[in-house]
Amino acid sequence: MPRFRATILRPTAPALARAGQLLARGGLVAFPTETVYGLGADATSDRAVAAIYAAKRRPRRNPLIVHVASVAAAQRLARFDGRADALARRFWPGPLTLVLKRRPGSRISRLATAGLTTVALRVPDNPVALKLIRAAGRPLAAPSANRSGAVSPTRAPHVHLSLGSRVGLVLDGGPCRVGVESTVLDLAGRKIRLLRPGGVPLEAIEAVVGHVEIAVGGEEPRPLAPGQLASHYAPRRPVRPDAVRPKPDEAYLAFGKAPSAKSAAMLNLSPSANLAEAAANLFAMLHALDRPEFAAIAVAPIPQRGLGRAINDRLQRAAAPRGT
Ligand code: TXA
Ligand code: MG
Repeated sequence: MPRFRATILRPTAPALARAGQLLARGGLVAFPTETVYGLGADATSDRAVAAIYAAKRRPRRNPLIVHVASVAAAQRLARFDGRADALARRFWPGPLTLVLKRRPGSRISRLATAGLTTVALRVPDNPVALKLIRAAGRPLAAPSANRSGAVSPTRAPHVHLSLGSRVGLVLDGGPCRVGVESTVLDLAGRKIRLLRPGGVPLEAIEAVVGHVEIAVGGEEPRPLAPGQLASHYAPRRPVRPDAVRPKPDEAYLAFGKAPSAKSAAMLNLSPSANLAEAAANLFAMLHALDRPEFAAIAVAPIPQRGLGRAINDRLQRAAAPRGT
């Protein structure tokens, strides 16, 4: 079979114009955000959104995040209350996704929201992403640009490794600054619920809106966030979190001071034990260590605070039994 290569372009003005036209015609474009690369499509087109699910082999009951370029654009698509206004003002553009009641007149594809009465919205903090949304002239549905269940892409070449020719155009904006996906908050009910820990730490959110219920994992009513599936974010090799030291046939992902034990290969998420640096390195280092010669990827314990909560969430899901 011939091998097709996706076109990877620097985000020049002509490349952005071309990508915008492709999106407006219902095509798929992978683009950088501050969290991970997204696989974008016109969020108002069922046909374009269907192509995302097909390319990722993602179950259609898992709704997508809709990306817009401004708070005002988000407010045209969903009902904002005082809590949503305060969070949007404080954290947008940025790695926070708000799940809100969709406005009845909104043209967002029912497929993008998996038929729910809510819609997940965010304004990404990346100049290429914002320019692309404006060039397309419409909101963009965009999950992470990887096969469903696999490690998310934080660099343009990861997109090609995971999706191959299923995406025609990749805009290369370099490595993603944050490195883990956005925090997903459900504001559709009376209580604010954390559906997925991510780039905005829980502590920072609670400083704005007070107590947030943790609704990650566990028994969830519909919708099931893809990030809530037991096995997700998984490399091909088994992952062993909370490993104080590696076994001789394991690759090791250290955090802070590395152990002296012998391992097959070692990378360090952050020699200075900085959680933001560790989050930015996490997926790229999992990609790099995901090689058949290692029995497993062992990962050092990560503190459960700040961005550590998102890192531990991804590691636990990478370690969960597969096929669930
Ligand atoms: O950082 C990010 O959020 C990246 C970049 C590309 O923006 N996108 C991303 O999308 O991670 P995805 O599709 O991999 O994750 C979307 C998350 C899932 O956990 C999904 O269940 C949740 O958002 N979600 C989307 N719409 C929802 C809704 N209406 N109700 C509840 N959860 C929803
Ligand atoms: Mg994803």
